[in-house]
Amino acid sequence: MVKPKIAPSMLSSDFANLASEAERMVRCGADWLHMDIMFILYYNSHFVPNLTIGAPVIESLRKHTDAYLDCHLMVTNPLDYVEPLGKAGASGFTFHVEVSKDNWRELVQKIKSKGMKPGVSLKPGTPIEEVYPLLEDENPVELVLVMTVEPGFGGQKFMPEMMDKVRILRQKYPSLDIEVDGGLGPSTIDMAASAGANCIVAGSSVFGAPDPAHVISLLHKRVEQ
Ligand code: DX5
Ligand code: ZN
Repeated sequence: MVKPKIAPSMLSSDFANLASEAERMVRCGADWLHMDIMFILYYNSHFVPNLTIGAPVIESLRKHTDAYLDCHLMVTNPLDYVEPLGKAGASGFTFHVEVSKDNWRELVQKIKSKGMKPGVSLKPGTPIEEVYPLLEDENPVELVLVMTVEPGFGGQKFMPEMMDKVRILRQKYPSLDIEVDGGLGPSTIDMAASAGANCIVAGSSVFGAPDPAHVISLLHKRVEQ
C-alpha cells in the first residue's frame, strides 16, 4: 500500500507567522507542508486569479524547518521556477499539465536534476488521459495531484465527481502517489480515501479546526484503512 501523507495547505496559515505555523503543523502530525505558489501573468493568459508566495518565501521557511515542502505551482510558466525553487529548498515540484503541453519532458528532467520530486496536476475540467504520457514516459512524474476544486483559493467545496479520476489512476498505477487538493476534511476524506488517494491536502479544515492534530490524525487513519 502507498504511504498516506497528510499535507496541510499553508495557504490557510497566518502568512505573517509562517515559520511558527509550519512548526505547529509538524507538531500536529503533518507529513508534508503544501505550499501553493500562484502568480498572475497579465501579459499572458492568467492561470489563477490570485497571487501568493514564491521562492524567496520558501527559502526563508527552509531556514526554520526540515519538513517536506510540497510545492504546487499554479503559474503559466513553471519552467522559470524550477531553478529558484530548487535552490530555495523545495522538496516536491508539481506543475499543471494545462500549461506544460510543450515542455513537460524538460520540466521533469530539470526538476529531478535539482533534487525535487516531480508531480503533475490537473484542473477539474482536464481529462485524466492528459497525464498518461507523463506517467508512461521513461522519465516519469512521481505524483499526480487531482484538483478537487478550481485552483485559486482555499475554502471551496469539494467536487466528488473528481473521484472517478482518482479511481482510474489508482487502478492503473497501484504504487503512484495520488494527491487530492481542495475541500478535503473529515466530511470528504472517505470519498477520497476509498477512491485511492494517499496524499491529502487540507487547508481550511485543518487550520480552521479547534484541534488541528485531531483532524490530521483522523485524515491519516481514514487513508490507512
Ligand atoms: C487551491 C489550493 C489548495 C487550497 C486548499 O488552489 O491549491 O491547496 O489551499 O484549501 P482547502 O483545503 O481549504 O480547500
Ligand atoms: Zn494546492
